[in-house]
Amino acid sequence: MKLWGGRFTKEENTLVNQFNASISFDKRFYRQDIRGSIAHVTMLAKQGILTDKEKQQIVAGLEGILSDVENGTLEIDPGAEDIHSFVETTLILRIGDVGKKLHTGRSRNDQVALDMKLYVRDEIGALDTLIKELLQTILTVIEENLETYMPGFTHLQKAQPVTAAHHFGAYFEMFLRDRSRLSDILKRMNTCPLGSGALAGTTYPLDREYTASLLGFDSATRNSMDSVSDRDYLIELCSAMATMMMHLSRFSEEIILWNSNEYQFVELDDAYSTGSSIMPQKKNPDIAELVRGKTGRVYGALISILTTMKGIPLAYNKDIQEDKELTFDAIDTTKDCLTLFTGMLATMKFNRDAMKKSAVNGFTNATDAADYLVNHGVPFRDAHGIVGQLVLHCLNKGISLDDMSLEEYKAVSPVFEEDIYEAISLKTCVEKRTTLGAPGPSAMAKVITEYKRLLETEN
Ligand code: ARG
Repeated sequence: MKLWGGRFTKEENTLVNQFNASISFDKRFYRQDIRGSIAHVTMLAKQGILTDKEKQQIVAGLEGILSDVENGTLEIDPGAEDIHSFVETTLILRIGDVGKKLHTGRSRNDQVALDMKLYVRDEIGALDTLIKELLQTILTVIEENLETYMPGFTHLQKAQPVTAAHHFGAYFEMFLRDRSRLSDILKRMNTCPLGSGALAGTTYPLDREYTASLLGFDSATRNSMDSVSDRDYLIELCSAMATMMMHLSRFSEEIILWNSNEYQFVELDDAYSTGSSIMPQKKNPDIAELVRGKTGRVYGALISILTTMKGIPLAYNKDIQEDKELTFDAIDTTKDCLTLFTGMLATMKFNRDAMKKSAVNGFTNATDAADYLVNHGVPFRDAHGIVGQLVLHCLNKGISLDDMSLEEYKAVSPVFEEDIYEAISLKTCVEKRTTLGAPGPSAMAKVITEYKRLLETEN
């Protein structure tokens, strides 16, 4: 049954109805819709717009609908126009005329604005929990790999030695920022649109602040036209999720490289890999590849919602209905990716020997060899040139700086002594990097304490 049949005379057109309907996707927020309606009638009764008895009947009816949908005895009618129509029509069918009072002082425009906010608020909570689990997993990897030496890269060329702990710390920082972006969105969006009506408020003496407090909002919105047509918080959420996916995608890309035959830095668990139908030797990192691939869908959602909103005059227009499917898909995708990525990381094994060998063979200690000379009075530019000659010598012989004899060192610069080997060992190279933010153990220890505090104190 339509909520608005009165003014219309012509037969319904099935295609138009299907095109217009949103039930196939907005049914997912039946809980939020009913919750909003219960708060609305509670406020109407407090204001004397409904009697207490009417309120009780409506609330009991709504609670009945909720539990029947939850336990599967009431199917959400796929032929309904939207979730708001379905709940209201079912209520009237169940409790009779009193149900017709539910929509007093309300429009579907403020109702859908409310439902969407309630839904997004719940989903931000779910995303936050998943990011927190990912952070916890990264922190475990960090603590277990403080002495897992590996090359740090720039331009994907081996640069200077770091540890896996330090490398993973970079991702910890990224996901920490993602978490704080979520809480920023929550702060800005947490105002209640209900009572804004279709666009211009209502003539009933509503207590909008009361409804807002019943639903856990900080306050009621201040402009009814903005309230029904604001979707900024969805744009912010899609942007935050796009950023999260970009981080997950970069991380996936590294894991795909590290898991390759060429690197062999890590091995993914069988549960997070797949085989090939033709090549028996293959163990492919499909999950990481899919996370990388699905990033595009979430970027797409951000562009879609921005584009949908850009030409909409005030106040509500039906274009806004397009906010849902893309946001829902982006939320589902991001949640799945966070969950799977965390599982993949938690079961991934490090090949510490291969990582270390790669750091030694890649001249990642060349800067430290130059620093050794600087510490013995050689100007840095000269030291750079000397070590450059040493590297060339090593390349010609197919050895690393660590393999050169002291005579070979001295042939290029007499400043070198026996302690050069100690000075350029990976352990020394890492341990001497003690500035805040560097991979040295003392610097990392400080940062880890901070990470733990952040995970415990931030909710
Ligand atoms: N399905 C609509 C939406 O998602 C609900 C609001 C409908 N309002 C209206 N005036 N037709 O935006």
